[in-house]
Order: sequence, then structure tokens, then C-alpha cells
Amino acid sequence: MASVTLEGVKKIYDNKVVAVQEFNLEIKDKEFVVFVGPSGCGKSTTLRMIAGLEDISEGTLKIGDRVVNDVEPKDRDIAMVFQNYALYPHISVYENMAFSLRIRKMDNEEIHRRVCQAAEILGITQYLARKPKALSGGQRQRVAIGRAIVREPAVFLMDEPLSNLDAKLRNQMRAEIILLRKRIDTTFIYVTHDQTEAMTLGDRIVIMKDGFIQQVGTPQEVFDTPRNLFVAGFIGSPQMNFLKAKLVRTGDKYAVELLGTSVALEDAKCKKLLEKNVQTKEVIMGVRPEHTVVRFDGSDNAIESTISVNEMMGSELHLHVNTIAGDRVILRLPTIDLTDEQRAQLSYGNKLYFSFASKVVHLFDPETEESLLF
Ligand SMILES: Nc1ncnc2c1ncn2[C@@H]1O[C@H](COP(=O)(O)OP(=O)(O)OP(=O)(O)O)[C@@H](O)[C@H]1O
Ligand SMILES: [Mg+2]
Repeated sequence: MASVTLEGVKKIYDNKVVAVQEFNLEIKDKEFVVFVGPSGCGKSTTLRMIAGLEDISEGTLKIGDRVVNDVEPKDRDIAMVFQNYALYPHISVYENMAFSLRIRKMDNEEIHRRVCQAAEILGITQYLARKPKALSGGQRQRVAIGRAIVREPAVFLMDEPLSNLDAKLRNQMRAEIILLRKRIDTTFIYVTHDQTEAMTLGDRIVIMKDGFIQQVGTPQEVFDTPRNLFVAGFIGSPQMNFLKAKLVRTGDKYAVELLGTSVALEDAKCKKLLEKNVQTKEVIMGVRPEHTVVRFDGSDNAIESTISVNEMMGSELHLHVNTIAGDRVILRLPTIDLTDEQRAQLSYGNKLYFSFASKVVHLFDPETEESLLF
């Protein structure tokens, strides 16, 4: 068990690519932290620097209280699970798991104890005698995780361990990783580009883009108060809607005006805006699909739109609509209480209205793309 601290960490590859910069993060002992972000943002590079598989160009990396920049990977007390789990094909599952312990000349009894215990935790005891090729993808991934568990590392690193699995298995393994974490209470750093995985697994998530950290917070924090447009759009599915709007200040009060409607902001938001002394200005307003209210008629300050796509998701509809200003908006509508008449109205080209409460509004500066409410 150990904390992991990165201070001013930077990575420049030999070809001058700056993959990671200004990376500052303190991961607490036994914390589960997820690095998430689009392809090429520097997640694997950061993880590989922690593992010792890449040199750190600048900055300090500590595991516990020890600076490990120049410590060999094998002496860092970490274990890493990769996406392509690369098991040794010619030896049994048991020997795959025992391999790293044998290299360390651990005694057979202890190896046996650790392999059996890991196999038990992962539910692969019955496959220990098999060769990897006689296993399914999910079972192989479990062996790969088992290989890391047996080392009883202080820090567990996982780089997209589920991305080779199909959607159903991935969901199942995701739940298993949550259980695994409960059973082997240690520090986890987990890399994924999948925001659902990040949200469900992480105590905290680190959202990255172009080598920079964009925001660090609990899943709830980054969902409720995204720091900038990028985070707002990245976290949440379907993605947050962005609309051009005008923030209007009257004395100490603020309202958002768009498309002929006006929504007065509640006190907490006004307070934040006042702190920053924000004046009347053009803004980008964000509202999540699940926070919109669909209306079948145009009364009550509702915004008019035209339906372009109606996606049936089972328990809900995802309605893609266009406003008069050309903003494209996705609305989420539960299907359970819809009447036949209403369903008939929800087809291509028909008018539909929507509104939203002040509480669910996010506001961004169009120039800096930073949140005005952070
Ligand atoms: N060995 C390398 N030499 C040079 N550049 C590299 C090397 N490895 C990665 N890069 C570059 O560094 C940047 C970050 O790569 P990295 O693999 O860390 O991204 P990632 O966030 O893990 O992406 P993905 O989700 O696709 O795995 C990218 O621009 C990539 O092209
Ligand atoms: Mg990667």
C-alpha cells in the first residue's frame, strides 16, 4: 500500500513530442484513481512513467515517501495490467500467474498460496491447469489481472484492461473490478478512454486532454461542476448540449436569455457570478439531455425546436432537435408515460418544445471555454 505523488511531471519523447506536462497529482494510499481522456492525451505515457517503463523528462515521482524517478520498475513495488494481456501461450494458467514469483525465487509454498488465493478472488480456480488458448477473452483478462495480484503490489496500474472485451463482458468485468478493489485494498491507477468506466470505478477521476490535466475530482464533482467546456462535453452520455445564450445582469441578479426565453438563475449561481464580477455577456450555455424537460406545446417559456432524429433506447427516447438558431440539442424523454398520441407527435420534422430549470444550467465563457460557475 502506498501513496503516489507526481509533481510537475513532464514527458518529452525522443521525437520531441510533448506527451504530458504540468502533471501534478497526489494519489492517496488505497485510493482508486482513473485517468480518462481521448486518444493521444497522454494517459498511457503517465502510467508508464509511474511504472518505470518510460523515463520522466522533468518533475518528481514519489511512491510513498520515496522519490522513484531513477528506481528500476521491478523495485517500485507496482504491478501493471495491459490492454493486450500477452499471456505466455505455452504454459498453464497456474504457471502464467506464478511466473514473476518464480523469477524472484519465492519459495514454492508461498507461490502456491498466492496463486490459489488470486485464482479464488478472480473465480478462475477451475482453469489453473489449462493453457491460455483454451480460455475465453474474459477469462484470459482475469488471468492477466491474477498475474498482477499475486505480486501483492503496493500500487496496481491498469491500462485499458477491458477494451479488448465485448460490451457485455466489459460491463461484467467492470463490476468485478469494483469487487476486486474491495477484496485487495490497495492503490489503483486505472487508464481508460471510456467515461462510463471512469465514472463507475474512480474515487476520483483525472480528465486529460493534449497532455494537460483538465480537472481532477470525484465523479459527482466533475459531473456537477465541470471546469471547462471540454470536461462538460466529455463527461456524461449523451453529451451535454451547448447553446448560444446571453447572460444578463440586473443589479445582483442574473438571468440567461435565449431564443425568446429567459431563465432567472438561482442564488447560488448568482453568488458565484458576482464573485467574479461577471457582466452582461454572450455565453455558451450547457444543459444535459437528462436535465431538459420535453413539452408538447409552446407555453411556459419553452423553446421551440424541430425533431431531426428520434432514437428509441427502450426505456427512453433520445430526441435530436434543432432550434431556430441552428443549435442542435439532444433531449431525453422517458417512454413509460407516453400516450399514443404523443408518440405519434415525435417523428421527423414535427415541432417539439423544451425547457430547463435554472439549477441544471452550466455557463461557459466563449473565449476561454472556462466555466463561469466554477
Ligand atoms: N514512444 C513514443 N514516441 C513518441 N511519441 C509517443 C510515444 N508514445 C506515445 N507517443 C505520443 O505521445 C502522445 C500521448 O500518447 P499516449 O499513448 O500516452 O496516449 P493515450 O492517452 O494513452 O492514448 P490512447 O487512448 O490512444 O491509448 C501521443 O501524441 C502519442 O503519439
Ligand atoms: Mg493509451
